This record gives sequence, structure tokens and C-alpha cells, in this order.
Amino acid sequence: MKALIASGGRGTRLRPLTHTQNKHLIPIANKPILHYAIEHAVDARIKEIGIVVNADDVEVQKTIGNGDKWNVKITYIPQIVPGGLSQVVQLAEKFIGKENFIFYLGDNMVVGGVKRFIDEFEKSKCDCFLTLAKVKDPERFGVPEIKNGKIIGVEEKPNIPKSQFAVSGIYIYNHHIFEAVNSIKPSARGELEISDAHQYLIDKGFTIGYAEITGWWKDTGKPNDLLEANRLVLDNIETKISGNVDSLSTIAGKVIVESGAKIINSIVRGPAIIGKNCTIENSYVGPFTSVGDDSFVKNSEVEYSIVMTKCKIENVNIRIEGSILGNDVEIVEAIGKPRVHRFMIGDQSRVEVA
Ligand code: DAU
Repeated sequence: MKALIASGGRGTRLRPLTHTQNKHLIPIANKPILHYAIEHAVDARIKEIGIVVNADDVEVQKTIGNGDKWNVKITYIPQIVPGGLSQVVQLAEKFIGKENFIFYLGDNMVVGGVKRFIDEFEKSKCDCFLTLAKVKDPERFGVPEIKNGKIIGVEEKPNIPKSQFAVSGIYIYNHHIFEAVNSIKPSARGELEISDAHQYLIDKGFTIGYAEITGWWKDTGKPNDLLEANRLVLDNIETKISGNVDSLSTIAGKVIVESGAKIINSIVRGPAIIGKNCTIENSYVGPFTSVGDDSFVKNSEVEYSIVMTKCKIENVNIRIEGSILGNDVEIVEAIGKPRVHRFMIGDQSRVEVA
């Protein structure tokens, strides 16, 4: 069994964050999203992982490396234009060869790993194994039609969904998937859809197995999804204080304070993670917040937020909540009169003021 991870695409729904970084490297609990997919593959004892990257991307390879740190071999497969998920599979044909493989969309997060699905795939000896999650908005996803416990159809983002399920971005295949992705035609939006490949397999009589993801699953396509993913991962951390917490500070609940971080006269209420070499001074960091390495928070309050690395939040007199701050972002008090809000904001940013 090999693993194929998709980490290309343009991430347009996460702009402006994705103007300067690949969406799969956005941190969830201070770790790039992509790490979670790799770790799930490693937990399932997979030794060879192919990662499809945009051909002009160097960041993913630089950040993830050759797999040594997980004791696996990582091969990068370039994609020139994001032509759809079936194209991603086409590009990996040589890498996969005749082996079975798990195809994992790098922006998907699931609790509990993927080993249980691989076990079921192997036991059932099906050609294609889909994982389904019950959602409120199936029209955003690939949607299965299920009859008498069998998947009889799959449609991509249908106007009228035939079930309440989304096909999640975790699929397991044998080599027959290559016949499917090499036979289908581009959809109306010009992509080779993975749902059309699944429909092809159904039409040709291949066996499709499935399992429902009963726990938590998220496609982190939109900003709120990132905050929710962050909340869930933080909910499962264990307290570890490696940095310095002074006697005037209070740490409550599950909190990680990384080495070199200083908590001075502050309250950190977990679950929360404070990255390496951060300073939190006269401040409140509330539940479900991650603060990236080298950030500085003084005389301010932050809760339910993702703060990336090297940020500065100082003398902000209203609590920052439900926010995502990229790297090197500053939110500071405007000095002088008249009292104003002063913004220096890049393209496609969003700010809400009280
Ligand atoms: O998340 C589950 C959904 O993922 C499924 O229910 C849909 O059937 C499937 O088509 C897909 O829909 P999305 O609209 O979420 O796909 P998106 O374009 O966001 O791409 C998913 C991941 O694959 C993302 O990590 C980017 C990467 N990708 C995407 C395309 C189109 C590539 O690496 N190359 C590509 O050409």
C-alpha cells in the first residue's frame, strides 16, 4: 500500500493567506495541515508517499522534505495546472505502479487516522473504497446515492443532493482507478473530477465499498473550517510546559508552552498552544488559540484564533476572537490624536471592527 497526497490547487477561498503560502502549510495547532495527512499514512505503516504539488511550488518540498523525519520515502509529483483530482491520480500512475493506494486530499483533516479504512478495504477486497461523512451542506461536495446499502452513483457538487453524505477526501483504490481517470472527460468547470472516475467504476461494475466517518472530519477549504480544525486538534492536546511561566501568571486547562516562550503576568486558558520563543505579557490567551513561534502579545486578549509566526499584538483594547493572522502580522495601538483605526492591509483581506 502506498499513499498519494494532493497538495496542489490554488486555495482561492483562503485568500489572502494563500497569496503568500500554500494552503497545505497553514498551521493547525502550530503544525502544517499536510503533516496530519503524512502522519496518518505513517500510522498506517505506509512507507512510500507521493505528494502532488503545483509545478511552480518550492515551499511544500522545502517544508516537508524527503520523509526522513517520519522514516518514509516522499516523492514529489509536479502538476502544471490544477486540472482536477482525477488528473492528480493520472499523474501518479508511474509512482503507484500496480500497488493499492490511499489517496488523501491534503486539505482534509480526520480524527482517528485512516488505518481502520485501509483494514476494511483489504478485508472487503473491493476495487474502490470511499469514506462518507454526514454534512449539512452536501452540495459543496461529491455526494453518493445509496440504495440497499450500496453506492449506486456519485455526483460532484449537485444542485439537488441524493443523500446527506459528502464523499470525504480519503479514498482507497486498486489499479482499476487508472482505467477510470484515463477514460473520463473534463466536467463543465473544465476539471477531471474524481466523482466522475467513481461513477465510471460504478458503471463498469467494479465493486465500491464505503464506511461512514462517525467522528470528526473537515475539508479545510474556508477560513471558518481552519478555526474549527484548530479547535478540534487543540481539544486533544496534553499539557506540556517547556517555556517559562512567571508566578503572576495562571495556566488553566490543557496548555502547551513551547521552549523559550515567556508567560508574564498573564492568563492562558486552554486548550491553547504558545509557540517557541513567544512572549505573552499582561495578556489573556483564551481557549482554542494557537500562537506561532516568535510571536509577541502584550496588554491584549486573544481567543479562538490562529496566530501564525512572528506576529505582534500590542495594546489592543478589545478582545481578538475568531481571527486568523498570517505570519509577521502586527495589530497595535494607533498612537496620537485624533483616535483612529489605521489599516495597512494586503489584497483580499477582511477586517471586522467593533
Ligand atoms: O473534501 C472533499 C471533497 O474534495 C470531495 O467531496 C469532492 O468530491 C472533491 O472533488 C473535492 O472537492 P473540493 O472542491 O474540496 O476540491 P478542491 O479543489 O478544494 O481540492 C481538494 C484538494 O486537492 C486540495 O488539497 C487541493 C488539491 N488539488 C486540487 C485540484 C483541483 C490538487 O492538488 N490538484 C488539483 O488539480
